[in-house]
Amino acid sequence: MEYRVAFIEGDGIGPEQAAATRVLLTKLEDTQGIKLNLISVEAGDRALKDRGEALSQESFNIIEKSDCCLKGPVGQSAYDVIVRLRRDLDLYANIRPAKPLPKVPCIAPQETDLVIVRENTEDLYCGLESADEEKAIATRVITRKASQRIAKYAFELARTRKRGVTAIHKSNVLKKTDGLFLLACKEVSEKYQDVQFSNMLVDAAAMNLIRNPQAFDVLVTTNMFGDILSDEAAQVVGGLGLVPSANVGDHFALFEPVHGSAPDITGRNIANPIALILSAAMMLEWLGREKSDPTASEASRIIHEAVEETLRSGEVTRDLGGSLNTAEMGNAIAAHISK
Ligand code: NAI
Ligand code: MG
Repeated sequence: MEYRVAFIEGDGIGPEQAAATRVLLTKLEDTQGIKLNLISVEAGDRALKDRGEALSQESFNIIEKSDCCLKGPVGQSAYDVIVRLRRDLDLYANIRPAKPLPKVPCIAPQETDLVIVRENTEDLYCGLESADEEKAIATRVITRKASQRIAKYAFELARTRKRGVTAIHKSNVLKKTDGLFLLACKEVSEKYQDVQFSNMLVDAAAMNLIRNPQAFDVLVTTNMFGDILSDEAAQVVGGLGLVPSANVGDHFALFEPVHGSAPDITGRNIANPIALILSAAMMLEWLGREKSDPTASEASRIIHEAVEETLRSGEVTRDLGGSLNTAEMGNAIAAHISK
């Protein structure tokens, strides 16, 4: 089976990470018998500058007709690219795992293994803002349907893991919106008696992610809280250069690093490619499940193993205290893949 993968290289460090990821995926094809047809799709700040649109209808159509999408970070046009793709393709679940990797310095105890499940289609990210010179207003939309849907996703995921779900909210202040979100989570929890359910205010959750990250299993939350907490969780396990994410709908999914285009280090070939490489691993894991294809699942496992072996060898990029550049890091990981 050959998979059509829409590949958005993105902006800033995106193309540098994409080049390293291509080397790795080619090695995987040569050794593991997986076939990936990577179709380049233009989107982001460069597309906006060159073509006048951050995400053209043409690009959208290519993505929609593919089996899945792999995406590097985009820059200032993030709203017009990723927020639109999440909404228009109904990729309602944003899955953001955080787990320490071998020999990576981090504040999290080694047994930390958590996943943030972020609602991906509503909340303050609906784009409903208005302003005059004196006052600006953003509308927060929370629906029972979307809250139940994301809660169900979180509980199903917890059943495959340590069996705990914590709903993160601010219902003491946002009584109506987060009140509804929490109520929906509680309703869904009743159907999952085998999963331990708790809830926590978002400010306390931000603190506990640092104090006690190993106590969490699955955190389910609304769009903006999930956005913020997942950058925090990334740093807790070693940094933004390492953590992947999946945007999942019922029949399509898009995989991307948690981080953005990192303009402060762009063009220097020093970015860590692992966040995009592990996003590709999440993609193969999803393909393995979605298409019942053990070759794809195995390819995902092999990427994880190669990343871990490389980190164990101590060869790392600057963000982790090493001296490899982006391309060398990608090559080092690819070198750990054999037939
Ligand atoms: P950022 O995530 O790009 O960078 C934050 C910090 O982490 C920077 O110091 C950066 O150098 C470092 N960093 C990020 N990725 C790294 C990697 N792979 N290796 C080593 N260091 C890494 O956040 P920032 O600077 O606030 O945002 C930059 C742009 O990214 C903005 O224009 C924003 O709109 C966009 N963005 C796009 C996203 C997407 O495409 N989904 C997500 C988040 C931000
Ligand atoms: Mg973010």
